[in-house]
Amino acid sequence: MKPVIFIPCDAAALAVGADRVASSIAETLAARRLDAEIVRNGSRGLHWLEPMVEVRTDHGRVAYGPVKPSDVKSLFDAGFLEGAEHPLFLGKTRDLPFLKKQTRLTFARCGVTDPLSVSDYRRYKGLRGLENAIAMQGAEIVQVVTDSGLRGRGGAGFPTGIKWETVRKAAGAQKYVVCNADEGDSGTFADRMIMEGDPFVLIEGMAIAGLATGATRGYIYTRSEYPHAIATMRKAIEVARGEGILGPSVLGSGQAFDMEMRVGAGAYVCGEETSMLNSLEGKRGVVRAKPPVPALEGLFGCPTVVNNVLSLASIPLILDRGADYYRDFGIGKSRGTMPIQLAGNIKHGGLFETSFGITLNELIYDIGGGTASGRPVKAVQVGGPLGAYFPTSHFDIPFDYEAFTANNGLIGHAGIVVFDDTADMMKQARFAFEFCALESCGKCTPCRIGAVRGAEVIDRIASGASVSEQTTLLDDLCNTMRLGSLCALGGFTPYPVSSALSHFPEDFGPRPQSQTQPAEAAE
Ligand SMILES: Cc1cc2nc3c(=O)[nH]c(=O)nc-3n(C[C@H](O)[C@H](O)[C@H](O)COP(=O)(O)O)c2cc1C
Ligand code: SF4
Repeated sequence: MKPVIFIPCDAAALAVGADRVASSIAETLAARRLDAEIVRNGSRGLHWLEPMVEVRTDHGRVAYGPVKPSDVKSLFDAGFLEGAEHPLFLGKTRDLPFLKKQTRLTFARCGVTDPLSVSDYRRYKGLRGLENAIAMQGAEIVQVVTDSGLRGRGGAGFPTGIKWETVRKAAGAQKYVVCNADEGDSGTFADRMIMEGDPFVLIEGMAIAGLATGATRGYIYTRSEYPHAIATMRKAIEVARGEGILGPSVLGSGQAFDMEMRVGAGAYVCGEETSMLNSLEGKRGVVRAKPPVPALEGLFGCPTVVNNVLSLASIPLILDRGADYYRDFGIGKSRGTMPIQLAGNIKHGGLFETSFGITLNELIYDIGGGTASGRPVKAVQVGGPLGAYFPTSHFDIPFDYEAFTANNGLIGHAGIVVFDDTADMMKQARFAFEFCALESCGKCTPCRIGAVRGAEVIDRIASGASVSEQTTLLDDLCNTMRLGSLCALGGFTPYPVSSALSHFPEDFGPRPQSQTQPAEAAE
């Protein structure tokens, strides 16, 4: 069998030289007159091993990494085309502990297939969900999604089936499916990995959403900072159109669905669904008051499904294997699996998909290997810049929407950013206000003004001025923002601030003059 060499074309691998490794391997093959196929796959999500090169041999795929161009000669000399030993040899890919411990449902194909090959996609069970959906009525498709227990993976955890049913029942000659691929949360990259590594699963999920709700047009909204994802998605949409997966008659069903990519400038608030819809319509990305909800009056005033990439990418498997199969994973009201993203100061960062219910202890220590710096973990922030900071004493919390809410936190898009004991939690709290002040759309006062005042209060604490009064004021301000903000940007900024204050009170106090920052910096 001709060897196949897999070299990721995911942005994380490209950033550490995957293209140069690919060129060097191609040149060596030519120079040594060796016959092997090169496939540019997505990433397996073991980021500390990127570029991780795999070779398909007679006894399965074996992995090497992290590979530099200067390693290529010695890899060939050692016989890596036959899966031979080498200092970078990692063993059989499927036996790598980081992969073996996962339950890959949404990411089943990511890193395995050629992202732009429909035949590869079909070989790995692609399009079965769409074929099943075509044989069903819209209401039946929605029922399967509802029964699966799938909740929105973009942040709010809203049941996907209920949203789809609202759009399905809404009157309207034109309906839309909008995929939220803005992915602004710190430490998150799962949406990008799907778009670069398995774009057809997103296209298939959106087409099923169209069949279920009567929407005939779809948009994927992402940010300009994702050039590789944009290019791959655009090519995949073209290929899907050519194969009849998109177009006037989806896979010959007689039902139309087509889609396109739209690129925003990268404002965090444009991930908020109504702000995103404004941006898609060519307007400024300002939050709209709700009601009406987008499911009834969304894009251009029409009924619109707005879902995150991961929510939509989970749909094909649910329609293929059935609601019960998916629902059997997870705990409580958190069903299925979650692609968790380990980032920040962590030894083994990357994408780890697993059933809900895993603890932070398992994620940070057993899977992530502790900090990259080797110092003790001080805190993790879960759920992006508006998520709470958890101290190690809270690491037994299971990954579950309700358990996180009960601990004043949120799962959000499941990004976990790790900090070691050198982190200054008062600085982190100030950063939350700075971030909110910079990213606020300006529509409501608690967020627009509150964030600036918050940074000022922290600066006064740092300068030693009436610390206890200022701390009370900070608490008051957090309550005002929480209760009075129009959207979660202002409403959730208190989470990182209050959690930093309550779990790490010792970090809040006077600092030497040189360590304080002028309040204007946040304005
Ligand atoms: C400030 C802010 C930023 C957000 N950013 C994103 C984002 O980048 N991606 C996303 O899917 N949802 C984001 N959301 C949540 C969306 O408003 C919305 O709930 C989500 O796209 C719905 O899809 P889902 O039900 O599949 O999660 C954000 C919300 C807020 C308030
Ligand atoms: S909370 Fe902030 S981002 Fe949200 S509507 Fe108000 S000003 Fe805009």
